[in-house]
Amino acid sequence: MDSIHIHGGVCLQGKVRIQGSKNAALPVLAATILTKGINLIHNCPKIADVYLMLELLRSLGCVVSWEEDGVRVDARNAAPNKMPVSAIKGMRSSLCLLGALLGEAGEVAMEYPGGCVIGERPIDLHLAAFRSLGAEFREENGIIYGNAGKGLMGAHIDMPRSSVGATENTVLAAVSAEGVTVLTGAAREPEVETLCKYLCRCGAQIEGIGTDRLVIVGGRRLSGTEFGVPADRIVAGTYLLACLGTGGAVLLEDAPVSHMEAVVSFACRMGAECQEAQEGLYVQAPGRLLSCDRLTTEIYPGFPTDLQSVALVVMTAAEGKCLIEETIFENRFRILEPLRRMGGKVRLIDAGKAEVEGPVFLNGTETEAWELRGGAALVTAGLMADGETIVKGCDYIDRGYENICRDLRELGARIYRV
Ligand code: EPZ
Repeated sequence: MDSIHIHGGVCLQGKVRIQGSKNAALPVLAATILTKGINLIHNCPKIADVYLMLELLRSLGCVVSWEEDGVRVDARNAAPNKMPVSAIKGMRSSLCLLGALLGEAGEVAMEYPGGCVIGERPIDLHLAAFRSLGAEFREENGIIYGNAGKGLMGAHIDMPRSSVGATENTVLAAVSAEGVTVLTGAAREPEVETLCKYLCRCGAQIEGIGTDRLVIVGGRRLSGTEFGVPADRIVAGTYLLACLGTGGAVLLEDAPVSHMEAVVSFACRMGAECQEAQEGLYVQAPGRLLSCDRLTTEIYPGFPTDLQSVALVVMTAAEGKCLIEETIFENRFRILEPLRRMGGKVRLIDAGKAEVEGPVFLNGTETEAWELRGGAALVTAGLMADGETIVKGCDYIDRGYENICRDLRELGARIYRV
């Protein structure tokens, strides 16, 4: 397995273009099977999870090809079929196909999806919403069998907890249901908004996009379309934070600034200057990083859980103590152990809280990624550290970053993949 070698201590400088969003692209790709038409999805990131989704689409009869500016999905002959287990289990987003197939074909059989080891990740909210729409489920030998009976019917669904995936899945099923679905307690993450916009472009009728109350008028015929995936707010946030950690100044080209408010405001609290420009986001790290008392992850528009470990790493270089609270996933503090080995003063308080005290200088070490964002956090630690850091387990990082070494080299980092 490949590893990433970093010679740390270089201030990041220059500009880098931010890739398309993983978590926006994946549900849009899953939704193409609802169109029975030809789709051209621009700015689709070339990452492992997208390749897995394309493999799943091919297994369902879609003809998929990479064009100069995106991926073409011809879903005219899409139909339910056996999907490769490795691709289903390789990522959480395979779950989106459950909603899409249930609506489109009326039945579905698939293994439990996989994903990062960041917590329990149940699917009860997804199944409860499908049941409200009239579907029935049974599980046998780890396979979920869903059946829409005589067809899904619109319903009033109240999500008891905000869930990005369950909201997307409900929307995917509800566009094929007869009648109107009112979904309250819907997740407001920009990726949900992107999916709804794509579906509307195909002919769906969805009101309340961007709010926690979505009204979906189902049963409309959807046709294929051309659509652009927005830039990845988590990748942009990773490079913004890495810039702070190394004391640099960067331009994040195409960064989706309007979706990064919590991260930008956190960076400003640490003393950074952030300026929105036509090309993207300029970030200038301060001479001395300031800590903040508390950083809490929240649902959108709060601070994203996906940037928590990267922020934690950067806090080791800030002056003062910070309490970090993780409220979304229960297993997102695995970064503490490698960080301690690198010299970080970090302490686990309980399963959902950790404390960081700085400033300290980190020392390079050999370490291993265990999940996507934790891997990006280790790379950030390596950029900040004295000497060489080796991050093994690159496959996890490849799931969400097109080419993290190339991007960071563009910003002057001494980083390469072996
Ligand atoms: C999405 O995961 C993202 N993944 C995650 O990004 C992101 O961390 C997360 O949303 C939160 O923003 C994709 O979009 C592919 P949730 P998702 O359902 O949809 C609980 C990354 O690194 N829950 O909003 O799986 C769940 O356990 C990834 O790019 C239930 O209890 O997250 C969690 O505590 C990792 N029952 C909370 O809700 C359910 O049926 C929020 O999860 C579903 C979720």
